[in-house]
Amino acid sequence: MHEALHHRPRKAVRPGRRQRLAIYWSSALLLASGLAWLIAHYLLPLPEFAARHPLETWAMRLHGAATLFGLAVFGSLWSNHVLPAWKQGRHRSHGAALALFWLLLILTGYGLYYLSDEEVRALASTGHIALGTVLPLGLAVHVSQARRQKHADLA
Ligand code: HEM
Ligand code: HEM
Repeated sequence: MHEALHHRPRKAVRPGRRQRLAIYWSSALLLASGLAWLIAHYLLPLPEFAARHPLETWAMRLHGAATLFGLAVFGSLWSNHVLPAWKQGRHRSHGAALALFWLLLILTGYGLYYLSDEEVRALASTGHIALGTVLPLGLAVHVSQARRQKHADLA
C-alpha cells in the first residue's frame, strides 16, 4: 500500500500530438506573417500611388488570424500543460521564459491596436518585433531540453 503511494506515476504533462502540431502551426504562422509584414514594410518598393504595399495588408490579415488561433492554443496549454508542469517543478526556467514571451507578445500586440501616442506605439512595435523574432528560439530551446530529458529518463 505504502509502496504504491510512493510509486504513483507523475501526471503526464507532455502536450499530445495534435496539441503539439497546433503549437508548431500557430507559431510558424505568426512568425511567417510577421516576417512578411517586415519585408513588405521595410524592403519592398511601393507600387505607384499606394500608401502601403499590398503584401503588408495581407500579412497583417494573416497575422490577426494566426493570433486568434495562437491564443486559443495558448489558452488550452495553460490548463493542461503550463500549470501542471509548473507544479511538478520540471523545466521551469525555459518553460516559464516561453510563457512570458507569449504574454509579452500579447501585451505589446494589444498595444499596437490601441496605443494612440506615436512614440509609445513605436516602442511597443520595436518590443513586439524583437520578442517575435526570438520566439522560435525560445520554443526550440524548450522543446529540445524537454526531449533530451525524456531520453535521459528512458535510458
Ligand atoms: C511555466 C511554463 C512551462 C513549464 C514549466 C513547462 C514544462 C514542460 C515539461 C516538464 C515538458 C516535458 C513533458 C514530458 O515529456 O513529460 C514540456 C514539454 C513541452 N512543452 Fe512545456 N512548459 C511550459 C510552457 C510551455 C509553453 C508556453 C509551450 C508552448 C507555447 C510549451 C510547449 C511544450 C512542448 C511542445 C513540449 C513537448 C516537447 C516534446 O517532447 O516534443 N511549454 N514542457
Ligand atoms: C503570441 C504571439 C503574437 C501575438 C499575440 C501577436 C499579436 C499582434 C497584434 C495584435 C498585432 C497588431 C496587428 C495590427 O496592427 O493589425 C501584431 C503586429 C505585428 N506582429 Fe505580432 N503577434 C505575435 C507574434 C509575432 C511574431 C512571432 C512576430 C515575428 C516577427 C510578430 C511580428 C509582428 C509585426 C512585424 C507586426 C506589425 C508591427 C507594427 O504594426 O508596427 N508577431 N502582432
